Amino acid sequence: MNMTVYVPMDSGAASLGAHELAQAIASEAARRGIALELKRNGSRGMYWLEPMIEVETPAGRVAYGPVRREDVPGLFDAGFLNGGCHALALGPTESIDYLKRQSRLTLQRVGVVDALSITDYLAQGGFAGLRRAVRMSPAEIVAEVTESGLRGRGGAAFPTGIKWNTVLNTTADQKYIACNADEGDSGTFSDRMLMEGDPFCLIEGMTIAGLAVGATRGFIYLRSEYPDAHRVLLAAIETARETGYLGADILGAGKAFDIEVRLGAGAYICGEETAMLESLEGKRGIVRAKPPLPAIEGLFGKPTVINNVISLASVPIILAMGAAYYRDYGVGRSRGTLPFQLAGNLKRPGLVELAFGTTLRELLYDFGGGSASGRPIRAVQVGGPLGAYVPESQFDVALDYEAYAAMGAMIGHGGLVAFDDTVDMAHMARYAMEFCAEESCGKCTPCRIGSTRGVEVIDRLMAGEARGKQLALLNSLCDTMERGSMCAMGGMTPYPVRSALKHFPEDFGIDATQAA
Ligand SMILES: Cc1cc2nc3c(=O)[nH]c(=O)nc-3n(C[C@H](O)[C@H](O)[C@H](O)COP(=O)(O)O)c2cc1C
Ligand code: SF4
Repeated sequence: MNMTVYVPMDSGAASLGAHELAQAIASEAARRGIALELKRNGSRGMYWLEPMIEVETPAGRVAYGPVRREDVPGLFDAGFLNGGCHALALGPTESIDYLKRQSRLTLQRVGVVDALSITDYLAQGGFAGLRRAVRMSPAEIVAEVTESGLRGRGGAAFPTGIKWNTVLNTTADQKYIACNADEGDSGTFSDRMLMEGDPFCLIEGMTIAGLAVGATRGFIYLRSEYPDAHRVLLAAIETARETGYLGADILGAGKAFDIEVRLGAGAYICGEETAMLESLEGKRGIVRAKPPLPAIEGLFGKPTVINNVISLASVPIILAMGAAYYRDYGVGRSRGTLPFQLAGNLKRPGLVELAFGTTLRELLYDFGGGSASGRPIRAVQVGGPLGAYVPESQFDVALDYEAYAAMGAMIGHGGLVAFDDTVDMAHMARYAMEFCAEESCGKCTPCRIGSTRGVEVIDRLMAGEARGKQLALLNSLCDTMERGSMCAMGGMTPYPVRSALKHFPEDFGIDATQAA
């Protein structure tokens, strides 16, 4: 039997030399006359260990990392193919603390399987959810997803089942499933990891969504910055078609569903659902007024389910294991798990899938290992560029949608960007306004003009010019943006600004009473 070595194909690992490493392992094996099967898996999400390779041993998979090309001969000498001792040995993969302590539901197969092997996918429980779904009525599928408590993982946390029910209850000659794979938030990469590491899971989730609402066509709106995900998705869709998991007759059940991938053009606003629809239709990505909701009049004017990659990829396990299994994870109205993405100034950046209810402190220190610089972590921006800056005093608040909303923050897509105590929060607040000015679609005045004026006011505040007056102006500007903007781009830009002012007033040259 051939020895099996896993080398990640994930673009994060590839940027650290994984492809060259795979070649080096193959040629070293050939040189030594060893028959080897090289499998290209996704990343397990422990980026400080990438490229992390694994070998299949009778006792399970054993990991080594981070491995460079020049380590390869030494690894062979040390008998790594049998799990031999070496300075880079990390032990049995599943026993690595960072991985062992997670609850991997949605990303359970990422890093485990060869992303393009449908055999691997099936061997790891793939398509069990779809097999169940084809035997259910659309209303039963929607009920299962509603009962699971799944809420949108793309930002707004809207209950997925309710959204699906609206589309189910429409009558139309054509309905669509639109998967939002724009992943524009800072510090986020779980959509990419899922698409590159387990594309069949997204295909399965979208197909179940199609069966649930009566949609026969699905679109994946993928950011153009993800060429690897693009390649993997196209190949996986082709395989799914050839094997009857997509097409005119899914699993012989007489139901049709197919998927097309469309590339975005690189604007943050194209992640907003209605701007995404415009872009999918080939137009400039400008936000549409709501109502009508996309669930009623969406893509090409037809009822459309718009869901994030992780929302859709969470559906197969819900169908396979039942709503209660998924709902049993989490707290309050935040059910199930979220892949938190640890980025910024951290020793061990990566992906950590955990049930809601965990805390920033646990993620930053137990998983992230504290700051990479060794200095105290002062602020964490949670939920992308429109997310609040959370100070150390709030690191113990449970990560739960309602608890975060109560403190004026949001979990969003679960991206965490950590900053140490050298950060200047006035600059970060200025940057939020600048980002909005740059990325605004321009449709409404509070966002288009307000963000430009916001940069100017913060500049004057930072220069110490009539601070009281500038502060009053900034607060009033934030009120206008919050209340008068058509979408969350302008409506939420005040979040990072206000949180910076509230928790770090000293960086603006003011005291806490002035900031309140
Ligand atoms: C400015 C802006 C950018 C957004 N970017 C994304 C994105 O990149 N990916 C995403 O899934 N949702 C994004 N959203 C949220 C979507 O509008 C929408 O709520 C989401 O795709 C719905 O899917 P879900 O219910 O599964 O979360 C963005 C929203 C706004 C206002
Ligand atoms: S808030 Fe900004 S991005 Fe949203 S519709 Fe208005 S101008 Fe466009």
